[in-house]
Amino acid sequence: MAVPLKIIIAGGAGFIGRHLVKALSARGHKVYGLAKDRMRGKVLEELGCRPIIGNLLTNGPWERAIEKFDVAIGCTMPGRRGQAPTMKQVPELLKSHTDACSNLILAVHEGMLKGLILTFGVLSYGDHGEEWVDEETPREPIGYGRFIGPAVHALAHLAESKQVKAKFMFPGWAYGNGSWFKDMLLPAFEQGRARVVGSGGNYMSFVHVEDLAEAYVQAAEEIGYSPPPEERPVTEMFNLVDDQPMTQKEWLSEVARALGKPAPPSIPVEECAQQAGELWTESVTCSVRAKNERAKSRLGWTLQYPTVHDGVPAAIDAIRKER
Ligand SMILES: NC(=O)c1ccc[n+]([C@@H]2O[C@H](COP(=O)([O-])OP(=O)(O)OC[C@H]3O[C@@H](n4cnc5c(N)ncnc54)[C@H](OP(=O)(O)O)[C@@H]3O)[C@@H](O)[C@H]2O)c1
Repeated sequence: MAVPLKIIIAGGAGFIGRHLVKALSARGHKVYGLAKDRMRGKVLEELGCRPIIGNLLTNGPWERAIEKFDVAIGCTMPGRRGQAPTMKQVPELLKSHTDACSNLILAVHEGMLKGLILTFGVLSYGDHGEEWVDEETPREPIGYGRFIGPAVHALAHLAESKQVKAKFMFPGWAYGNGSWFKDMLLPAFEQGRARVVGSGGNYMSFVHVEDLAEAYVQAAEEIGYSPPPEERPVTEMFNLVDDQPMTQKEWLSEVARALGKPAPPSIPVEECAQQAGELWTESVTCSVRAKNERAKSRLGWTLQYPTVHDGVPAAIDAIRKER
């Protein structure tokens, strides 16, 4: 391999972040994580990754520390860890995520890094029914997209105006060993609480978290090993989803099959909103049928799990082995 890249990940102790640390380290890169405090720094150390203590929302030594890196990755989630965001919190979460991303862009600019990767999500497109969604589709964010989507274009403009080479990632629902799949969905199946919300006919776009991490590896290497751009760089956007978006109902049937359980019954949308909150309900009933051709052709991304049918049994296996 070429000279290893020095990569810093903000959010490295999070669900996606941990898989990024693992995948980038496995490629031989020198990976550091930005952790908000020493406790979270320990999580990074356990992953074999050196922590830098800092918060993207406050000025601090992390801004200078970033100067020694080639590539920075932002994979942060606003709000409190372990606390589901609510509709009421959307304005403050949007501000917090936008500030975190802006501060990282500015630090990358000041530190003269080769470039930056930022994380958003396909819910930022909003509900597009059965229509296929590519990176040019207009965005009308709903659900969790409400606090990650509205600032995408302003942030792209900021990166371009600061001559920061940036790639913006739009993952689908990332399933694997951790987060909502492990901590919410599988226990709901085990306890007979899993439900299709509404008709279940909305499309959802998924990605196995290990495939997602591979796309970041390709993107980081493209940034790190390319010659500096001669002209002002244009921010590139990538949907990171598998080959086969499926309806909510089909998805839950796939998970049920992999667990050897019956397909779950339905509950009305209003009942779900009362139980799980409006923001979550909007997210799981939002129809996004996203295409992944751009990531495949421009990043050379290949998927180990091109469909949920391949990926869900592998994810369940990984979780069971860890228990
Ligand atoms: N999970 C999915 O299925 C999915 C799908 C599509 C898009 N996304 C997007 O991907 C991103 C990461 O998601 P995730 O599921 O990995 O979230 P997560 O597990 O909650 O991890 C987020 C990480 O960000 C860190 N963080 C938050 N604010 C920070 C700040 N101001 N400075 C430094 N670090 C900060 C957190 O630190 P602490 O550890 O100290 O709390 C945590 O380690 C989010 O933007 C999310 O919207 C996720």
